[in-house]
Amino acid sequence: MIIDTDTGSDDAVALLLALAAPGEVRAVTTVAGNVPLATGTRNALVTLQMAGRADIPVHAGCERPLVRPLSTAQHVHGPDGMGGHELPDPARGPELDHAVNVLLSLPRRHPGELTLVTLGPLTNLAAALLRDRALLSHFRHVYCMAGAADLRGNISPTAEFNVWADPEAARVVLQAATPETVTWIGWDVSRQDAVMTPADQRLLEELGTPLAEFAHRINRTVADWAHDVTGLDGYDLPDPLAMAVALCPDLVLERETVHADVALGDETRGQLLIDRRRTAPPPNVTLVRRVDERRFKHMLFAACAREARR
Ligand code: BDR
Ligand code: CA
Repeated sequence: MIIDTDTGSDDAVALLLALAAPGEVRAVTTVAGNVPLATGTRNALVTLQMAGRADIPVHAGCERPLVRPLSTAQHVHGPDGMGGHELPDPARGPELDHAVNVLLSLPRRHPGELTLVTLGPLTNLAAALLRDRALLSHFRHVYCMAGAADLRGNISPTAEFNVWADPEAARVVLQAATPETVTWIGWDVSRQDAVMTPADQRLLEELGTPLAEFAHRINRTVADWAHDVTGLDGYDLPDPLAMAVALCPDLVLERETVHADVALGDETRGQLLIDRRRTAPPPNVTLVRRVDERRFKHMLFAACAREARR
């Protein structure tokens, strides 16, 4: 697996899920999004270190969207992206190779073997696709935490952050995608099937392991944001949900294949344009619509209950 991430608090929990799974994480690539690139890269390095996996290479990628200036989500994840939770300094820096080079070269060396999971704006993947339009076909599959198919947004009335942050990149990805190569798991699904209720938050805290404490603490500012903005008691975990689906596709209870594009205009920036007309162009993406919440949470708690590898 390759994980492309703008590491903020829920990205970090998604990394923990991937590290708990049997497959191998070959590389983590970072992108600007929740936080500026250097902060997200640091957060990825620290998270791997906390989990005892400082051997996994981290490659920094694009520091701004394809066309637009960077707008972060620090109002959601905190200025450091990790809820202000005090973390150690990483003992190493990122590798020298740029993330986009890694996204281009690794799957070519292992055609059909690697799964790509994107947890941030799609800038790195789009930049790679601009150089190799056939790139998606070299992956086993590409899973993206992206979009809000029900048009209930988190960064605007109708848009989800990762797509809104770099809508041109999201369009590049959708224009190269097919339902067989790309699956999107949207914010709507996490609001429905991946909400950490107050009871879940207590359970996580009570696990008492360093990783559970880490996962609990770094999400504190997200919990406040979720309460203020969505009015719900409980925060959702979009990136861990996308990761869980990538690790275990049979968690998906409902999916549909559709033709989707992304709005680029000011008022509708980042909104998904799903064409369900009979005259629509052929489907270009698989959208997940429902996930098994009980199994997802089981995976989540199991990953956080582990002792970090020494
Ligand atoms: C997405 O945006 C970020 O804030 C989260 O990390 C997640 O990737 C949710 O819209
Ligand atoms: Ca993210």
